[in-house]
Order: sequence, then structure tokens, then C-alpha cells
Amino acid sequence: MADGAAANIIQVRPEPSGFGAEVTGVDLSRPLPPAALAAIREAWSAHAVLSFPDQPLTLEQLEAFTLQVGPFGADPFIAPMPGHPNVLELRREPDEKAPNFGGGWHSDWSFQPAPPSATILRSEVTPPVGGDTLFADAARAYDDLSDTMKAMLAPLRAIHSATRPYGANGMFARETEKRAMTILSGPEADKTHPHPLVRTHPVTGRKALFVSPTYTVGVEGLTEMETDAILGFLYKHLLQDKYRYRHKWRPGMLLMWDNRCTMHFAEGGYDGHLRVMHRTTVAGDVPV
Ligand code: SIN
Repeated sequence: MADGAAANIIQVRPEPSGFGAEVTGVDLSRPLPPAALAAIREAWSAHAVLSFPDQPLTLEQLEAFTLQVGPFGADPFIAPMPGHPNVLELRREPDEKAPNFGGGWHSDWSFQPAPPSATILRSEVTPPVGGDTLFADAARAYDDLSDTMKAMLAPLRAIHSATRPYGANGMFARETEKRAMTILSGPEADKTHPHPLVRTHPVTGRKALFVSPTYTVGVEGLTEMETDAILGFLYKHLLQDKYRYRHKWRPGMLLMWDNRCTMHFAEGGYDGHLRVMHRTTVAGDVPV
């Protein structure tokens, strides 16, 4: 098929809220013609979270698709799949009692100096109930702030760290229930890294709030009470229903989200059922 024709059969169905879209008419198991990849990039810029149903990819095909989006990001604190150093298996067995992985609002690895631009998650086994992934649109939430609040936030730098989940005394280090995933907690996770609290997207130029309850541990120059007040307000604002997209999984779906302008949350509610997902990340820029 000619390059332009491949792009023409791609269909993008935006969610009614304008945040998130479903993409059909493309086979991600093969190398994408440049025009098709450009159409996907354009849809991703416009909608931030793209879902591709019916994509029965092997791990090698998932890796190959990821590399068409960009180079792999670095995934710390979780043992990768054997023979696939850039793929994580997010697995929860039916008898697990430990909290589900990703069950706190966050933007992936935001504590890194250059956090990943994209996360790509493909569903292998989905539970019959629960297991949705929720997203918050941090760009529209920023747009809706008053000019006075925007001016106050503009110079602020938020401090990010992996300490709460992955630190030497973090949630995973303290848990006693068995877990199918191998989590590599330790002092490395207690390091901190500052980023602008409001970041500008390198492709769209849009500004977005770049904080999360999981990885933001402070704001430079503010007292703890001031930090709690500002972040508390921002989380309440960001997590309003009007900024949300709820992704419902079926087996063989691929989801690609933009960590530069969204937060996400893996919802539980599937105790007694197996859930298996394969995840890669794409390297990103230093936030500005
Ligand atoms: C995550 O990447 O945070 C997990 C998302 C999910 O399992 O739904």
C-alpha cells in the first residue's frame, strides 16, 4: 500500500470529552509507513492518550513499535522481562492480596532528570471486572486556572522522588504480602530531582501541571504547610471528573499515553482474577 493510502485508512475517534481517542485501521505489528506514523503522532499530540484495539503483538513487535515512536526510556526499580530488558510485565495473580501496581496518581518516572515522553501498555490478560486505567488531562486543567494562579505557579519548581513507593522505607519495601512482580526498592529511590511545576510540551507548546501525589514530595522555597496547601488544591483541581478519561481494557489492546501532560492511576477491583500487561517507555526531554 502506498504511504499516503496507509495514513488515509487510519481512523481517530476522539472521546466525547476531547481527551483520549481510539485509533483503528492500523496494524502495529508491522513497520509503519512514515505517513501513518505521522498520523499517529498528530493524533497523540491532539488527544494525549491513544488506544489501539485488536493489536495481537508479540513482545518483539511491541519493542519494534516502541522504537518507531522513539528510543526506549530507562525503567528503574522493577525487574524487566527475561530476555527483554526494556519490557516490564505488570502482572497480578488471582490470589494476590498486595495493592495493585500503579494504584496512585502519577506521571511515569517523573523523578528522572528526563522523564519518559510516552508509556506504551499492551493488555495480555484482562480481568472480567475492574482493572481500568484512569487518566487526568493536566494541560486542560492548567488552561482553566485563573491568570493570577498561573502567575503564582510560573516560577515554582516541584521536587520529585521515587521515595514513597520505591525508597528504602517506601511502600514496596515495607509490604509483607507476596507480589508477582519483582520490585527493586532501595536508597537510590530516595534521591530527589526538581522540575518546573508547570511544564511546556515540546511538541504542542501547551503548558501543563507537572505534579503528582505519588512522586511530588515538595516545592522549592515553600514550607511544608504551603506545599501541602498548593499541591492539595492542584490535585483537587486536576482530579475533577471533567478532566478524566477512563480506559476500559479488552485483551490485545495497546494504549500509548503522554507523560508530559497527563497523570494516570491503575484502578484495582479485580481481586481473584489474573491481569497481565506489557509495558515499555519512550525516552523524553528535560522538562522546561
Ligand atoms: C502504570 O503504568 O502505572 C500501570 C497502569 C495499569 O496497569 O493500568
